[in-house]
Amino acid sequence: IPVDSFDLVVFGGTGDLARRKILPGLYRRFVAGQMPEDARIIGAARGDMDDEAFRSLVREAIEEFGGKAAQEAEALGLFLERLHYVAIDAKGESGWSVLADLIRPDVVRAFYFSVAPSLFGDLAERLHHYEIATPESRIVVEKPFGRDLESARALNATLALHFTEHQIYRIDHYLGKETVQNLMAVRFANILFEPLWNARHVDHVQITVAETVGVGGRGAYYDRSGAMRDMVQNHLMQLLCLIAMEAPYRFDPDAVRDEKLKVIHALEPVRPEDIVRGQYRGMGKGTEGSYCADAENPDSRTESYVALKVDIANWRWKGTPFYLRTGKKLRARASEIAIVFKEVPHSIFGEEEGWRENVLSIRLQPNEGMTLSVMIKEPGPGGMRLTEVPLDMSFAEALGENGEDIPDAYERLIMDVIRGNQTLFMRGDEVEAAWAWTDPIIAGWDARGDRPKGYDPGSSGPEDALMLLHRDGRRWREIR
Ligand code: BG6
Repeated sequence: IPVDSFDLVVFGGTGDLARRKILPGLYRRFVAGQMPEDARIIGAARGDMDDEAFRSLVREAIEEFGGKAAQEAEALGLFLERLHYVAIDAKGESGWSVLADLIRPDVVRAFYFSVAPSLFGDLAERLHHYEIATPESRIVVEKPFGRDLESARALNATLALHFTEHQIYRIDHYLGKETVQNLMAVRFANILFEPLWNARHVDHVQITVAETVGVGGRGAYYDRSGAMRDMVQNHLMQLLCLIAMEAPYRFDPDAVRDEKLKVIHALEPVRPEDIVRGQYRGMGKGTEGSYCADAENPDSRTESYVALKVDIANWRWKGTPFYLRTGKKLRARASEIAIVFKEVPHSIFGEEEGWRENVLSIRLQPNEGMTLSVMIKEPGPGGMRLTEVPLDMSFAEALGENGEDIPDAYERLIMDVIRGNQTLFMRGDEVEAAWAWTDPIIAGWDARGDRPKGYDPGSSGPEDALMLLHRDGRRWREIR
Protein backbone atom coordinates (compact mmCIF):
# COMPACT_ATOMS: atom_id res chain seq x y z
CA ILE A 1 0.00 0.00 0.00
CA PRO A 2 1.59 3.31 -1.03
CA VAL A 3 2.18 5.85 1.70
CA ASP A 4 1.13 9.51 1.37
CA SER A 5 3.28 11.70 -0.77
CA PHE A 6 6.28 13.19 0.95
CA ASP A 7 9.40 15.30 0.78
CA LEU A 8 12.12 13.64 2.82
CA VAL A 9 15.18 15.74 3.51
CA VAL A 10 18.23 13.69 4.48
CA PHE A 11 20.76 15.83 6.32
CA GLY A 12 24.07 14.05 5.94
CA GLY A 13 22.68 12.80 2.63
CA THR A 14 26.12 11.91 1.24
CA GLY A 15 27.29 10.18 4.43
CA ASP A 16 27.88 6.54 5.16
CA LEU A 17 24.50 5.69 6.67
CA ALA A 18 22.64 7.43 3.84
CA ARG A 19 24.65 5.53 1.23
CA ARG A 20 24.47 2.14 2.91
CA LYS A 21 20.99 2.10 4.38
CA ILE A 22 18.68 5.07 3.95
CA LEU A 23 18.85 5.63 0.18
CA PRO A 24 19.05 1.97 -0.89
CA GLY A 25 16.18 1.26 1.52
CA LEU A 26 14.04 3.99 -0.01
CA TYR A 27 14.84 2.68 -3.45
CA ARG A 28 13.67 -0.82 -2.53
CA ARG A 29 10.40 0.64 -1.24
CA PHE A 30 10.10 2.50 -4.55
CA VAL A 31 10.55 -0.75 -6.47
CA ALA A 32 8.00 -2.42 -4.19
CA GLY A 33 5.49 0.26 -5.22
CA GLN A 34 5.19 1.79 -1.80
CA MET A 35 6.64 5.18 -2.59
CA PRO A 36 4.18 7.46 -4.39
CA GLU A 37 5.38 8.58 -7.81
CA ASP A 38 5.71 12.20 -6.86
CA ALA A 39 7.51 11.63 -3.55
CA ARG A 40 10.90 13.30 -3.38
CA ILE A 41 14.11 12.84 -1.49
CA ILE A 42 16.33 15.82 -0.93
CA GLY A 43 19.92 15.19 0.04
CA ALA A 44 21.42 17.98 2.14
CA ALA A 45 25.05 18.18 3.12
CA ARG A 46 27.95 20.58 3.30
CA GLY A 47 29.64 19.79 -0.01
CA ASP A 48 28.86 21.63 -3.25
CA MET A 49 27.12 19.39 -5.70
CA ASP A 50 24.26 19.59 -8.20
CA ASP A 51 21.30 17.21 -8.52
CA GLU A 52 23.08 15.23 -11.21
CA ALA A 53 26.18 14.61 -9.13
CA PHE A 54 24.04 13.55 -6.17
CA ARG A 55 22.06 11.19 -8.38
CA SER A 56 25.17 9.50 -9.63
CA LEU A 57 26.47 9.12 -6.10
CA VAL A 58 23.17 7.52 -5.11
CA ARG A 59 23.22 5.30 -8.19
CA GLU A 60 26.59 3.92 -7.09
CA ALA A 61 25.34 3.43 -3.53
CA ILE A 62 22.32 1.50 -4.78
CA GLU A 63 24.44 -0.62 -7.08
CA GLU A 64 26.62 -1.50 -4.11
CA PHE A 65 24.04 -1.87 -1.35
CA GLY A 66 20.65 -2.13 -3.06
CA GLY A 67 20.59 -5.91 -3.51
CA LYS A 68 18.69 -7.53 -6.38
CA ALA A 69 16.48 -4.51 -6.97
CA ALA A 70 19.53 -2.56 -8.21
CA GLN A 71 19.40 -4.54 -11.46
CA GLU A 72 16.09 -3.00 -12.48
CA ALA A 73 17.54 -0.29 -14.69
CA GLU A 74 14.26 1.39 -15.55
CA ALA A 75 13.10 1.62 -11.94
CA LEU A 76 16.48 2.93 -10.91
CA GLY A 77 16.30 5.67 -13.51
CA LEU A 78 12.83 6.71 -12.35
CA PHE A 79 13.88 6.66 -8.73
CA LEU A 80 16.90 8.87 -9.34
CA GLU A 81 14.62 11.48 -10.90
CA ARG A 82 12.96 11.78 -7.49
CA LEU A 83 16.22 13.01 -5.97
CA HIS A 84 17.45 16.55 -5.38
CA TYR A 85 20.39 18.05 -3.58
CA VAL A 86 20.89 21.21 -1.57
CA ALA A 87 24.28 22.31 -0.22
CA ILE A 88 23.63 23.48 3.28
CA ASP A 89 25.58 24.90 6.16
CA ALA A 90 24.14 23.43 9.34
CA LYS A 91 25.73 26.07 11.52
CA GLY A 92 25.46 28.97 9.10
CA GLU A 93 22.83 30.47 6.85
CA SER A 94 23.75 29.28 3.39
CA GLY A 95 21.42 26.93 1.58
CA TRP A 96 18.45 27.27 3.92
CA SER A 97 16.36 29.59 1.74
CA VAL A 98 16.99 27.29 -1.20
CA LEU A 99 15.63 24.40 0.83
CA ALA A 100 12.66 26.49 1.98
CA ASP A 101 11.77 27.25 -1.67
CA LEU A 102 12.23 23.68 -2.78
CA ILE A 103 10.12 21.90 -0.19
CA ARG A 104 6.45 21.51 -1.08
CA PRO A 105 3.44 22.42 1.01
CA ASP A 106 0.65 19.84 1.34
CA VAL A 107 2.88 16.78 1.48
CA VAL A 108 4.39 15.02 4.50
CA ARG A 109 7.63 16.76 5.39
CA ALA A 110 10.20 14.60 7.10
CA PHE A 111 13.75 15.50 8.09
CA TYR A 112 16.30 12.78 8.70
CA PHE A 113 19.15 13.96 10.93
CA SER A 114 21.84 11.56 9.74
CA VAL A 115 24.53 13.78 11.26
CA ALA A 116 26.49 14.12 14.51
CA PRO A 117 24.20 14.82 17.49
CA SER A 118 26.11 18.04 18.09
CA LEU A 119 24.31 19.42 15.01
CA PHE A 120 20.77 18.44 16.06
CA GLY A 121 20.13 21.76 17.77
CA ASP A 122 21.41 23.83 14.84
CA LEU A 123 19.30 21.92 12.35
CA ALA A 124 16.17 22.07 14.48
CA GLU A 125 16.54 25.78 15.01
CA ARG A 126 17.06 26.60 11.35
CA LEU A 127 14.20 24.39 10.20
CA HIS A 128 12.01 26.64 12.28
CA HIS A 129 13.66 29.92 11.57
CA TYR A 130 13.27 29.40 7.83
CA GLU A 131 9.73 28.06 8.32
CA ILE A 132 10.63 24.80 6.68
CA ALA A 133 9.24 22.65 9.48
CA THR A 134 5.53 22.76 10.28
CA PRO A 135 3.72 21.33 13.33
CA GLU A 136 3.01 18.22 11.23
CA SER A 137 6.61 17.70 10.14
CA ARG A 138 8.62 14.79 11.47
CA ILE A 139 12.26 14.52 12.37
CA VAL A 140 14.23 11.30 12.49
CA VAL A 141 17.28 11.04 14.70
CA GLU A 142 19.87 8.33 14.82
CA LYS A 143 21.78 6.81 17.64
CA PRO A 144 23.95 7.45 19.54
CA PHE A 145 21.28 9.38 21.40
CA GLY A 146 23.64 10.85 23.96
CA ARG A 147 26.44 9.03 25.74
CA ASP A 148 24.93 9.13 29.22
CA LEU A 149 21.80 10.32 30.99
CA GLU A 150 22.91 13.90 31.16
CA SER A 151 23.72 14.29 27.47
CA ALA A 152 20.56 12.41 26.46
CA ARG A 153 18.49 14.77 28.57
CA ALA A 154 20.22 17.73 26.99
CA LEU A 155 19.50 16.37 23.50
CA ASN A 156 15.86 15.76 24.35
CA ALA A 157 15.61 19.28 25.73
CA THR A 158 17.21 20.76 22.60
CA LEU A 159 14.83 18.94 20.30
CA ALA A 160 11.87 19.84 22.52
CA LEU A 161 12.54 23.52 21.92
CA HIS A 162 11.29 23.11 18.38
CA PHE A 163 9.46 19.79 18.11
CA THR A 164 6.89 17.95 20.18
CA GLU A 165 7.45 14.34 21.17
CA HIS A 166 5.00 13.07 18.57
CA GLN A 167 7.14 14.64 15.85
CA ILE A 168 10.38 12.99 16.98
CA TYR A 169 11.33 9.56 15.64
CA ARG A 170 14.34 8.12 17.47
CA ILE A 171 15.62 5.21 15.44
CA ASP A 172 16.75 1.95 16.94
CA HIS A 173 17.08 -0.08 13.79
CA TYR A 174 16.75 -3.35 15.72
CA LEU A 175 13.07 -2.55 16.17
CA GLY A 176 12.67 -2.56 12.39
CA LYS A 177 14.05 -6.05 11.98
CA GLU A 178 11.41 -8.45 10.74
CA THR A 179 11.99 -11.04 13.44
CA VAL A 180 11.89 -8.47 16.20
CA GLN A 181 8.45 -7.35 15.11
CA ASN A 182 7.45 -10.95 14.79
CA LEU A 183 8.37 -11.45 18.40
CA MET A 184 5.41 -9.28 19.31
CA ALA A 185 3.13 -11.21 16.98
CA VAL A 186 4.22 -14.52 18.43
CA ARG A 187 3.77 -13.32 22.00
CA PHE A 188 0.49 -11.50 21.62
CA ALA A 189 -1.33 -13.24 18.78
CA ASN A 190 -1.00 -16.78 20.14
CA ILE A 191 -2.48 -18.26 23.29
CA LEU A 192 0.27 -20.88 23.46
CA PHE A 193 3.12 -18.93 24.95
CA GLU A 194 1.60 -16.49 27.39
CA PRO A 195 0.80 -19.00 30.17
CA LEU A 196 4.43 -20.13 30.14
CA TRP A 197 5.96 -16.68 29.73
CA ASN A 198 7.04 -16.05 33.31
CA ALA A 199 9.48 -16.99 36.05
CA ARG A 200 7.50 -20.10 36.97
CA HIS A 201 8.19 -21.72 33.62
CA VAL A 202 11.13 -19.90 32.08
CA ASP A 203 14.49 -20.87 33.55
CA HIS A 204 16.39 -18.05 31.91
CA VAL A 205 16.65 -15.98 28.74
CA GLN A 206 19.73 -15.49 26.57
CA ILE A 207 20.11 -12.62 24.17
CA THR A 208 23.12 -12.80 21.88
CA VAL A 209 24.16 -10.32 19.22
CA ALA A 210 27.43 -11.62 17.83
CA GLU A 211 29.29 -9.94 15.01
CA THR A 212 32.33 -10.96 12.99
CA VAL A 213 33.37 -7.44 12.03
CA GLY A 214 35.83 -5.44 14.09
CA VAL A 215 35.76 -1.72 14.67
CA GLY A 216 38.24 -0.82 11.93
CA GLY A 217 37.15 2.31 10.08
CA ARG A 218 35.02 3.68 12.89
CA GLY A 219 37.45 3.34 15.77
CA ALA A 220 37.28 7.01 16.68
CA TYR A 221 33.56 6.82 17.42
CA TYR A 222 33.64 3.35 18.89
CA ASP A 223 36.52 3.93 21.25
CA ARG A 224 34.53 6.60 23.05
CA SER A 225 31.56 4.32 23.19
CA GLY A 226 32.26 0.61 23.63
CA ALA A 227 29.83 -2.28 23.43
CA MET A 228 27.83 -1.13 26.44
CA ARG A 229 26.92 2.22 24.92
CA ASP A 230 26.95 1.10 21.29
CA MET A 231 24.79 -2.03 21.61
CA VAL A 232 23.48 -2.81 25.10
CA GLN A 233 21.94 0.53 26.07
CA ASN A 234 19.86 0.49 22.90
CA HIS A 235 19.56 -2.65 20.77
CA LEU A 236 19.85 -5.33 23.46
CA MET A 237 17.76 -3.29 25.86
CA GLN A 238 14.98 -3.03 23.29
CA LEU A 239 15.04 -6.78 22.70
CA LEU A 240 14.92 -7.42 26.43
CA CYS A 241 11.93 -5.09 26.75
CA LEU A 242 9.97 -6.81 24.01
CA ILE A 243 10.46 -10.17 25.67
CA ALA A 244 9.82 -9.01 29.20
CA MET A 245 6.99 -6.50 28.77
CA GLU A 246 3.36 -7.03 29.67
CA ALA A 247 0.78 -7.10 26.88
CA PRO A 248 0.02 -3.53 25.84
CA TYR A 249 -3.70 -2.82 25.75
CA ARG A 250 -3.42 -2.14 22.04
CA PHE A 251 -0.72 -2.17 19.37
CA ASP A 252 -0.43 1.55 19.66
CA PRO A 253 2.75 3.63 19.97
CA ASP A 254 2.33 4.88 23.50
CA ALA A 255 0.72 1.71 24.79
CA VAL A 256 3.73 -0.31 23.61
CA ARG A 257 6.27 2.21 24.81
CA ASP A 258 4.63 2.56 28.22
CA GLU A 259 5.06 -1.19 28.74
CA LYS A 260 8.69 -1.15 27.63
CA LEU A 261 9.43 1.73 29.95
CA LYS A 262 8.03 -0.21 32.92
CA VAL A 263 10.48 -3.01 32.19
CA ILE A 264 13.45 -0.63 32.16
CA HIS A 265 12.32 0.83 35.47
CA ALA A 266 12.15 -2.67 36.92
CA LEU A 267 15.75 -3.58 36.03
CA GLU A 268 17.94 -4.26 39.06
CA PRO A 269 21.29 -2.48 39.18
CA VAL A 270 23.96 -4.83 37.79
CA ARG A 271 26.52 -6.07 40.31
CA PRO A 272 30.17 -5.88 39.20
CA GLU A 273 30.50 -9.68 39.43
CA ASP A 274 27.59 -10.09 37.01
CA ILE A 275 29.28 -8.43 34.08
CA VAL A 276 32.28 -9.32 31.93
CA ARG A 277 33.99 -6.99 29.52
CA GLY A 278 36.21 -8.17 26.71
CA GLN A 279 38.47 -6.71 24.06
CA TYR A 280 39.68 -8.63 21.03
CA ARG A 281 43.36 -9.36 20.64
CA GLY A 282 45.39 -9.46 17.44
CA MET A 283 46.10 -12.65 15.57
CA GLY A 284 49.49 -14.15 16.35
CA LYS A 285 52.25 -11.97 17.71
CA GLY A 286 52.11 -8.21 17.95
CA THR A 287 49.05 -6.08 17.97
CA GLU A 288 48.11 -6.16 14.31
CA GLY A 289 44.37 -6.56 13.94
CA SER A 290 43.83 -6.10 17.66
CA TYR A 291 41.15 -3.82 19.02
CA CYS A 292 43.74 -1.27 20.13
CA ALA A 293 45.28 -1.22 16.65
CA ASP A 294 41.85 -0.88 15.00
CA ALA A 295 40.89 1.90 17.39
CA GLU A 296 44.32 3.52 16.98
CA ASN A 297 44.58 3.79 20.74
CA PRO A 298 47.38 1.56 22.08
CA ASP A 299 46.19 1.71 25.66
CA SER A 300 42.45 1.62 25.11
CA ARG A 301 40.27 0.22 27.88
CA THR A 302 37.14 0.24 25.77
CA GLU A 303 35.24 -3.05 25.56
CA SER A 304 34.42 -4.65 22.23
CA TYR A 305 32.49 -7.38 24.06
CA VAL A 306 30.24 -7.43 27.04
CA ALA A 307 28.25 -10.15 28.76
CA LEU A 308 25.99 -9.53 31.70
CA LYS A 309 23.32 -11.00 33.88
CA VAL A 310 20.24 -8.86 34.31
CA ASP A 311 17.52 -9.33 36.90
CA ILE A 312 14.08 -7.87 36.52
CA ALA A 313 12.36 -7.03 39.77
CA ASN A 314 8.70 -7.60 39.05
CA TRP A 315 6.14 -10.34 39.58
CA ARG A 316 6.54 -11.88 36.17
CA TRP A 317 10.31 -12.22 36.11
CA LYS A 318 11.70 -12.27 39.64
CA GLY A 319 14.14 -15.19 39.77
CA THR A 320 14.55 -15.61 36.00
CA PRO A 321 17.81 -14.03 34.86
CA PHE A 322 18.28 -12.52 31.43
CA TYR A 323 21.82 -13.08 30.16
CA LEU A 324 22.91 -10.64 27.48
CA ARG A 325 26.06 -10.68 25.39
CA THR A 326 27.34 -8.87 22.35
CA GLY A 327 30.71 -8.50 20.76
CA LYS A 328 32.80 -7.81 17.69
CA LYS A 329 35.15 -10.25 15.90
CA LEU A 330 33.39 -13.28 17.28
CA ARG A 331 33.08 -16.73 15.73
CA ALA A 332 30.01 -15.97 13.61
CA ARG A 333 27.49 -13.29 12.79
CA ALA A 334 24.62 -14.67 14.74
CA SER A 335 21.92 -12.97 16.72
CA GLU A 336 19.48 -14.94 18.74
CA ILE A 337 17.04 -14.67 21.58
CA ALA A 338 16.62 -17.95 23.42
CA ILE A 339 13.86 -18.55 25.93
CA VAL A 340 15.04 -21.56 27.91
CA PHE A 341 12.16 -23.24 29.71
CA LYS A 342 12.37 -25.17 32.95
CA GLU A 343 12.60 -28.92 33.15
CA VAL A 344 9.48 -30.99 33.62
CA PRO A 345 8.71 -31.32 37.35
CA HIS A 346 9.33 -35.07 37.29
CA SER A 347 10.64 -37.28 34.52
CA ILE A 348 8.59 -40.44 34.16
CA PHE A 349 11.30 -41.75 31.85
CA GLY A 350 13.99 -41.74 34.51
CA GLU A 351 17.39 -40.21 33.95
CA GLU A 352 17.30 -39.91 30.17
CA GLU A 353 20.60 -39.25 28.51
CA GLY A 354 20.47 -36.39 26.11
CA TRP A 355 17.43 -34.95 27.77
CA ARG A 356 17.08 -31.24 27.03
CA GLU A 357 14.88 -28.43 28.15
CA ASN A 358 12.46 -26.84 25.69
CA VAL A 359 13.96 -23.78 24.07
CA LEU A 360 12.23 -21.20 21.96
CA SER A 361 14.93 -19.73 19.78
CA ILE A 362 14.25 -16.56 17.85
CA ARG A 363 16.93 -15.93 15.24
CA LEU A 364 17.30 -12.32 14.24
CA GLN A 365 20.01 -12.88 11.66
CA PRO A 366 21.05 -14.55 9.53
CA ASN A 367 18.38 -17.13 8.57
CA GLU A 368 15.58 -15.29 10.32
CA GLY A 369 13.14 -17.58 11.96
CA MET A 370 11.97 -19.33 15.06
CA THR A 371 12.54 -22.78 16.39
CA LEU A 372 10.89 -24.49 19.31
CA SER A 373 12.82 -27.51 20.46
CA VAL A 374 10.66 -30.31 21.83
CA MET A 375 11.40 -33.78 23.11
CA ILE A 376 9.83 -36.73 21.30
CA LYS A 377 10.27 -40.46 21.23
CA GLU A 378 13.09 -41.55 19.00
CA PRO A 379 11.36 -43.23 16.08
CA GLY A 380 11.80 -47.00 15.72
CA PRO A 381 11.50 -50.13 17.81
CA GLY A 382 14.42 -49.31 20.15
CA GLY A 383 12.23 -48.78 23.20
CA MET A 384 11.27 -45.54 24.84
CA ARG A 385 14.23 -43.35 24.02
CA LEU A 386 13.82 -39.62 23.82
CA THR A 387 15.23 -37.25 21.28
CA GLU A 388 15.05 -33.56 20.64
CA VAL A 389 13.51 -32.23 17.44
CA PRO A 390 13.05 -28.66 16.31
CA LEU A 391 9.66 -27.32 15.32
CA ASP A 392 11.07 -25.03 12.75
CA MET A 393 9.66 -21.90 11.29
CA SER A 394 12.14 -20.35 8.96
CA PHE A 395 10.62 -17.14 7.65
CA ALA A 396 12.09 -17.54 4.21
CA GLU A 397 10.34 -20.91 3.87
CA ALA A 398 7.15 -19.93 5.60
CA LEU A 399 6.72 -16.79 3.57
CA GLY A 400 7.60 -18.35 0.23
CA GLU A 401 8.96 -15.92 -2.30
CA ASN A 402 8.49 -12.88 -0.08
CA GLY A 403 10.57 -14.47 2.62
CA GLU A 404 13.62 -14.50 0.40
CA ASP A 405 13.72 -10.78 0.31
CA ILE A 406 12.97 -9.76 3.87
CA PRO A 407 12.96 -5.96 3.94
CA ASP A 408 15.80 -4.25 5.71
CA ALA A 409 14.98 -2.61 9.04
CA TYR A 410 15.47 0.88 7.63
CA GLU A 411 12.93 0.37 4.87
CA ARG A 412 10.21 -0.45 7.32
CA LEU A 413 11.14 2.32 9.72
CA ILE A 414 11.33 5.11 7.16
CA MET A 415 7.93 4.15 5.79
CA ASP A 416 6.59 4.25 9.36
CA VAL A 417 7.89 7.81 9.68
CA ILE A 418 5.94 8.82 6.59
CA ARG A 419 2.85 7.01 7.89
CA GLY A 420 3.26 8.79 11.21
CA ASN A 421 3.50 5.57 13.23
CA GLN A 422 5.86 5.83 16.22
CA THR A 423 5.37 2.31 17.61
CA LEU A 424 8.82 1.13 16.55
CA PHE A 425 10.64 4.27 17.69
CA MET A 426 12.03 5.07 21.10
CA ARG A 427 10.36 7.67 23.19
CA GLY A 428 12.49 10.24 25.01
CA ASP A 429 11.73 8.85 28.47
CA GLU A 430 12.67 5.32 27.37
CA VAL A 431 16.07 6.45 26.17
CA GLU A 432 16.69 8.35 29.37
CA ALA A 433 15.62 5.42 31.54
CA ALA A 434 17.97 3.12 29.64
CA TRP A 435 20.85 5.52 30.27
CA ALA A 436 19.91 5.82 33.93
CA TRP A 437 20.39 2.06 34.20
CA THR A 438 23.59 1.97 32.10
CA ASP A 439 25.40 4.94 33.65
CA PRO A 440 26.27 3.39 37.04
CA ILE A 441 27.69 0.30 35.34
CA ILE A 442 30.06 2.37 33.24
CA ALA A 443 30.85 4.69 36.15
CA GLY A 444 31.82 1.61 38.19
CA TRP A 445 34.32 0.49 35.53
CA ASP A 446 35.79 3.94 35.32
CA ALA A 447 36.10 4.27 39.09
CA ARG A 448 37.80 0.88 39.44
CA GLY A 449 39.96 1.39 36.37
CA ASP A 450 38.82 -2.01 35.05
CA ARG A 451 40.53 -3.42 32.00
CA PRO A 452 38.57 -5.62 29.65
CA LYS A 453 39.68 -9.27 29.34
CA GLY A 454 41.38 -10.26 26.10
CA TYR A 455 39.73 -12.70 23.72
CA ASP A 456 40.84 -14.22 20.44
CA PRO A 457 39.24 -13.08 17.20
CA GLY A 458 36.96 -15.84 15.95
CA SER A 459 36.26 -17.14 19.46
CA SER A 460 33.05 -16.87 21.49
CA GLY A 461 34.46 -14.15 23.72
CA PRO A 462 36.49 -14.14 26.92
CA GLU A 463 36.64 -17.22 29.16
CA ASP A 464 35.20 -15.30 32.09
CA ALA A 465 31.96 -14.87 30.20
CA LEU A 466 31.48 -18.65 30.29
CA MET A 467 31.74 -18.55 34.06
CA LEU A 468 28.90 -16.09 34.27
CA LEU A 469 26.54 -18.94 33.38
CA HIS A 470 28.57 -21.90 34.67
CA ARG A 471 28.40 -20.66 38.21
CA ASP A 472 24.61 -20.62 37.88
CA GLY A 473 24.67 -24.18 36.49
CA ARG A 474 23.83 -22.99 32.96
CA ARG A 475 25.55 -22.79 29.58
CA TRP A 476 25.63 -20.24 26.81
CA ARG A 477 24.16 -21.43 23.57
CA GLU A 478 26.65 -21.93 20.80
CA ILE A 479 27.33 -18.98 18.52
CA ARG A 480 26.83 -20.28 14.99
C1 BG6 B 1 24.94 -0.38 15.13
C2 BG6 B 1 26.22 -0.35 15.91
O1 BG6 B 1 23.95 0.35 15.80
O2 BG6 B 1 24.52 -1.71 14.95
C3 BG6 B 1 27.29 -1.17 15.21
O3 BG6 B 1 26.68 0.99 16.04
C4 BG6 B 1 26.78 -2.56 14.92
O4 BG6 B 1 28.48 -1.23 15.99
C5 BG6 B 1 25.43 -2.51 14.22
O5 BG6 B 1 27.72 -3.20 14.09
C6 BG6 B 1 24.83 -3.91 14.09
O6 BG6 B 1 23.68 -3.86 13.29
P1 BG6 B 1 23.20 -5.12 12.46
O7 BG6 B 1 21.90 -4.70 11.87
O8 BG6 B 1 24.24 -5.40 11.45
O9 BG6 B 1 23.06 -6.23 13.44
